[in-house]
Amino acid sequence: MTSRYLNLGCGERFHPEWVNLDLRPASPGVQHWDLRKDLPFPDASLDVVYHSHVLEHFSQPDGLRFLGRCRKVLRPGGLLRVVVPDLERIVELYRQALSDALNGQPDAHFAYDWAMIEMYDQTVREFSGGEMVRFVRELSPSQHSLIRSRLGGELDRMVPSNPQS
Ligand SMILES: C[S@@+](CC[C@H](N)C(=O)[O-])C[C@H]1O[C@@H](n2cnc3c(N)ncnc32)[C@H](O)[C@@H]1O
Repeated sequence: MTSRYLNLGCGERFHPEWVNLDLRPASPGVQHWDLRKDLPFPDASLDVVYHSHVLEHFSQPDGLRFLGRCRKVLRPGGLLRVVVPDLERIVELYRQALSDALNGQPDAHFAYDWAMIEMYDQTVREFSGGEMVRFVRELSPSQHSLIRSRLGGELDRMVPSNPQS
């Protein structure tokens, strides 16, 4: 049976029973597709459309068009599930790091630099992984715990040899 579940911009996280699309397929099980184009499915043909950490990479006009395309391919009553970074938590991290830096705390500049990357880099990056990947690859072991608390296991994917902390 043809899958009626769609994962857009799946990266390396995909399920073989879903249809998985990405601009840079990580596996033969993922179809190459640029999500700035119409989706290759008939209108109202899918049960579920899912995308995680994809929407924030588009400009606002591209993002609105993208959401419209998601809706177009969903059947009436179908489910659109969208995952995006939690801006409120990023802003909390930023405000805490700024306050700590102004109070002269030693590691606050590091936390501040990271908060800026979480807040901005994801939306303006022009190459895969952006400044975030560059930043985590230059971490010293003592800096891993903050980044792990933010990225979880994603840190190991970005820096495969990094120590568990
Ligand atoms: C931050 S990753 C998220 C990957 C996965 N969804 C996850 O949650 O781990 C963003 C993904 O969106 C894909 N992507 C970005 N722009 C795209 C586009 N125009 N068309 C298709 N995929 C795109 C990237 O190749 C990447 O795999």
